[in-house]
Amino acid sequence: MKRRSLLKRWFNWVLGALIGIPLVAFLKSQRFRPPVERRISKILKEDEFLIEPEFVLFESSEGPVAISRTCTHLGCRVNFLEEKSIFLCPCHQSRFSRMGRYLSGPAKKDLARFKVSTIENGQGYVVYIPR
Ligand code: FES
Repeated sequence: MKRRSLLKRWFNWVLGALIGIPLVAFLKSQRFRPPVERRISKILKEDEFLIEPEFVLFESSEGPVAISRTCTHLGCRVNFLEEKSIFLCPCHQSRFSRMGRYLSGPAKKDLARFKVSTIENGQGYVVYIPR
């Protein structure tokens, strides 16, 4: 084997490793993991809500809405205050509207909304929580 072809082969292996290893790491990352499906076997009436550890599920005139309970500032779990109809973060007092819109405090983004679908036969909901 000539020196030039050996160098070419070695270069191809190094190039393959430089591209392949980050590519495999990216594909195995959380971006491509399917969301966790949380089944709720209860039907809410309009303006009712259900508090779960990861989200609060509301039934509105537009259909079911699941608002994440993870604060967009530093990730504390926000509480839903029913009497004021707002989310309040216990860590740094950020406030969000009932639909997760940012109102005040150090968090500058709205709370995330999770995809919700109704189970066939109207027996409940499926909330899709991203990983
Ligand atoms: S973590 Fe919620 S306001 Fe800071």
